[in-house]
Amino acid sequence: MVEKKNLLLGICGSPRKQGTEYAIQYALKYAADKYGFDTEFWTVRNKQINFCIHCDYCIREKKGCVNKDDMEDLYIKLEQAKYLLFGTPIFQGNVSGQLKTVMDRCRALIAKDSNVFKSKIGIALAVGGDRNGGQEIAIRTILDFFLQNHVLTVSGGAFGANLGASLWSKDLGKEGIENDEEGLRTIRKIIKRIADFK
Ligand SMILES: Cc1cc2nc3c(=O)[nH]c(=O)nc-3n(C[C@H](O)[C@H](O)[C@H](O)COP(=O)(O)O)c2cc1C
Repeated sequence: MVEKKNLLLGICGSPRKQGTEYAIQYALKYAADKYGFDTEFWTVRNKQINFCIHCDYCIREKKGCVNKDDMEDLYIKLEQAKYLLFGTPIFQGNVSGQLKTVMDRCRALIAKDSNVFKSKIGIALAVGGDRNGGQEIAIRTILDFFLQNHVLTVSGGAFGANLGASLWSKDLGKEGIENDEEGLRTIRKIIKRIADFK
């Protein structure tokens, strides 16, 4: 699989077309308009994503996952993209179960090719209904996933986007994020940072 050197893939871990999806689309548009990234969007919404069942087929066979579901399409996108943006709503103080399942299912990609993520750069985004509802913990979960799997991780840096993009929807979905100017600024900061690697 040939990696597309200018491609930023945004993955949305929300089952709704609301705040998280809006935030990721905002990030992708900003990246394309301001820095000339090619972008793709993928969401867990309305997808069939089975749990990893730890059958170890991926380790034994090195041919991907035994599950045949909507992850097949995402596997190809993950292999192709140079830049990865994982975004999640906060569910119970951490990433959504849907995004966690996507992460677990990535084991099959790495089992097939341990170098698959080695040249990639990852950033994280989280949307909570509360101002401090677990955004930093969820961002850390995503960054730890990147770290564990050799994705180089960056943030937006000090003075705003310390670990990544952190947003507060006030449980108002898309409208809440449209009005979260400080949260949108954290998105711009993480995108500016990955543009340094182009
Ligand atoms: C099961 C569940 C658990 C949630 N837990 C939290 C939480 O721990 N902290 C928080 O800030 N918001 C929590 N929320 C609120 C969502 O994070 C918030 O409404 C967010 O905007 C949802 O993302 P969306 O706008 O993309 O749908 C929870 C929502 C659900 C459905």
